[in-house]
Amino acid sequence: LILLLAPFLMGYLLGSIPFGLLLTRAAGLGDIRNVGSGNIGATNVLRTGRKGLAAATLLLDALKGVVAVLIADQVGQLAAVGAAAGAVLGHMFPVWLGFKGGKGVATTLGIMWGLSWPVGAIACAAWLLFAALFRFSSLAALLSVVAAAIAAWFLTDHRAAILLTLLVPLVWVRHHENIARLLKGTEPKIGQRTKSEA
Ligand code: G3P
Repeated sequence: LILLLAPFLMGYLLGSIPFGLLLTRAAGLGDIRNVGSGNIGATNVLRTGRKGLAAATLLLDALKGVVAVLIADQVGQLAAVGAAAGAVLGHMFPVWLGFKGGKGVATTLGIMWGLSWPVGAIACAAWLLFAALFRFSSLAALLSVVAAAIAAWFLTDHRAAILLTLLVPLVWVRHHENIARLLKGTEPKIGQRTKSEA
């Protein structure tokens, strides 16, 4: 149990660093939670018009997942899976923000790269494909996590595949507002600026 709990906590601490919030605040943009969807992720940072900050948010939110997994991997695969779970849950439910965090897409991509780079590559390729096709960040995320979870069953250890499969419904639930907007036809396309929650 300690072999799972310690890496989980380490992952949680890393995952709970809200880079989108920190970077936009440091850039003098105020609280990103008052912009667009109110989310702290890269997609919403892009709605401020600051592409560099959005790219940095994406990269850092993914990197914290990669780093958590790679550190724990020194102990073993089970520890790596524990750290991966911690990182995504830390991003989604950070203690520092009253447990109100992000939707976990970038961090999930990060743990995928850490657990199995082919799965990470498939997830990114799927995201890019669906984003190019539909122009919705949320829809690309919803579809690519499913694709990556399926791929994980063929390409990596079953414990990692179990975690990635369990993360699918979690990522979908975190996107419930996006799903409602997609169904209503009011979801903004990538990079489209929005005044408030539509
Ligand atoms: O990564 C989150 C993305 O899928 C949706 O973000 O800001 O449009 O809710 P947002």
